[in-house]
Amino acid sequence: MIKRFGAVAAVDGLDFEVEEGTCVGLLGPNGAGKTTTMRMLTGQAVPDEGRLEVLGYELPAQSKQVRAEMGVVPQLDNLDVELTPRQNLAVFAHLYRVPRRDRGAAVDEALRRAGLSDRADTSLYALSGGMRRRLLVARGLVHSPRLALLDEPTVGLDPQVRRQLWELIDRLRDEGMTVLMSTHYIEEAERLADTVAIMAHGRIVARGRPDELTLEHAGREVVEIYGPPARLREVRAWADSTGRAVRHTGLAIAILRAEGDNSLPDGERRSATLEDAYVVLTGEEAT
Ligand SMILES: Nc1ncnc2c1ncn2[C@@H]1O[C@H](COP(=O)(O)OP(=O)(O)O)[C@@H](O)[C@H]1O
Ligand SMILES: [Mg+2]
Repeated sequence: MIKRFGAVAAVDGLDFEVEEGTCVGLLGPNGAGKTTTMRMLTGQAVPDEGRLEVLGYELPAQSKQVRAEMGVVPQLDNLDVELTPRQNLAVFAHLYRVPRRDRGAAVDEALRRAGLSDRADTSLYALSGGMRRRLLVARGLVHSPRLALLDEPTVGLDPQVRRQLWELIDRLRDEGMTVLMSTHYIEEAERLADTVAIMAHGRIVARGRPDELTLEHAGREVVEIYGPPARLREVRAWADSTGRAVRHTGLAIAILRAEGDNSLPDGERRSATLEDAYVVLTGEEAT
């Protein structure tokens, strides 16, 4: 599918599938087209070309059916502070058309999922940042959807809260929920996703298990060479002339696919990482 804004193709020929019961991480730098992709999947935006099928339904024609079976977690906390956690969840159980007789159980299940069963009836102001975030996720999933969509769910959160969300997303996957999340944090994709789709300039440029992507695009080992700018330029020129793949990492040049290569300049040898592959594929240094 393709989505254009004026002359810019925000999403340019995207073609991917999410296998049921797995977590797919859409990993890419800012502006790659992650949010645009998510918005098309939720029916908030319509592709200019191509067809979109989610959970066996055609979008946008059947977006109502899709919404019933999909849970969407917003990036910004828009919980109702006038209501308790239980009431926040009950409102959404109603919006998501959970049958009246099932709503109580659905809310209890969401509270359990969020680890907030013992805080169900307190004020929202009494919750920590991490608790609120967990509630926000659980609210989007109160109708136990088949597919959960999370667009950059941890952007800007402090590390402790991020870790709590990771645990929650991990549990969703253990429960067999299909999860599609976007992120620009390499570590997050590496930790949570079974399959990572690396996105750049509106396209998925590579897709696979994190370890497969690393091996395929950066090799097994990397040698990092430190030195003054002139030395780095020299190493760079040598690497280019001998056809070796490199990456600049701050004060060093990293030579990729260094395993078994004994003619490299002296440097620090380390294992290749998903970050190395990401930089090769997107042309952008990690943030
Ligand atoms: N509503 C819009 N109008 C114009 N350009 C947009 C709009 N939404 C996104 N874009 C552009 O499309 C590209 C992809 O944006 P986005 O999907 O938000 O990327 P990401 O979520 O990966 O950061 C960017 O160049 C962005 O500026
Ligand atoms: Mg975005």
